[in-house]
Amino acid sequence: MNESTLTNWLKTTALAMIFVSGQVLAVDGFELAQTNGCFICHQATSKRVGPAFSDIAKKYAGEANAVALLAAHIVKGTGPTGFGWQAEGRAELPFMPPNTGVTPENGLVLAKWILTEASKPTDNAKFVTSKISVTGQVKQPLELNVDDLQKLPVLQMKMVVRGHLPNEKPTTVIIKGVMLRDVLEKAALQTASPFDVKKSVIIVSASDGYRVVFSWPEVLFSPIGEGAILFFERDGKPLADDEGKIALTSLRDNGGIRFTKWVKSIEVRTITD
Ligand code: HEC
Repeated sequence: MNESTLTNWLKTTALAMIFVSGQVLAVDGFELAQTNGCFICHQATSKRVGPAFSDIAKKYAGEANAVALLAAHIVKGTGPTGFGWQAEGRAELPFMPPNTGVTPENGLVLAKWILTEASKPTDNAKFVTSKISVTGQVKQPLELNVDDLQKLPVLQMKMVVRGHLPNEKPTTVIIKGVMLRDVLEKAALQTASPFDVKKSVIIVSASDGYRVVFSWPEVLFSPIGEGAILFFERDGKPLADDEGKIALTSLRDNGGIRFTKWVKSIEVRTITD
């Protein structure tokens, strides 16, 4: 890998990773790999700093203990001298350092994922959404594509992107989009009682099943709402397939916790029990 490919790759990986950082409930192998920085050194089918996941799966195929064995290696690393991947020309480093953020349970999830799924390339294009629907407890259900969003007040905001490399400095990108608040005001809450305003929630769903929740008063009447942005451009360019065409960020959250790419729908629900 030449230097500029590496730099570009690190950039996109860092972008992909910030948004799941801090997430506690991740159980999916791919997400765990993102959060724990595995893609800094590994990729699906070719060697990087570490061996390709496909090579690892091949080496351990048919070994009865493979899941437990790999889980232990993932958590503890491969020791000071390593297992020889570099000597075979299949890695650029002689050993893997311990992955201190990985619990033994998550190590098992990651090991299973590597042996089964990880070598399949992710086809981002299949997740791209071109419009979002606004449904549920609203007076005016909506379908909005990027052109429709452009007709609302458009904002440019700074978004800080944190990477997972130890000494990596956060970078700042400029996003262009609209406030979630403006979309919700257009749809308007359908209320049966004045109290419904205080017990209504907003579920933002992505095409890959990822979900993020806000409350109605939080978005409409608190400073969080000023940072809840549906965006469609990053640094002057339409969002690429890895997050497009519409993504959502919550700039006022610590660490950008509520972020989702590939936004598909916004559902408003009022708690009734
Ligand atoms: C700093 C770079 C780096 C990071 C980060 C990293 N790895 Fe590795 N990994 C390596 C290298 C290098 C090897 C080959 C080590 C050897 O030859 O012993 C390796 C080997 C492995 C192996 C094979 C071990 C074996 O038994 O042969 C697995 C499985 C693995 N990594 C999974 C992961 C997972 C999952 C993560 C994230 C939690 C991760 N790695 C993070 C560099 C890294």
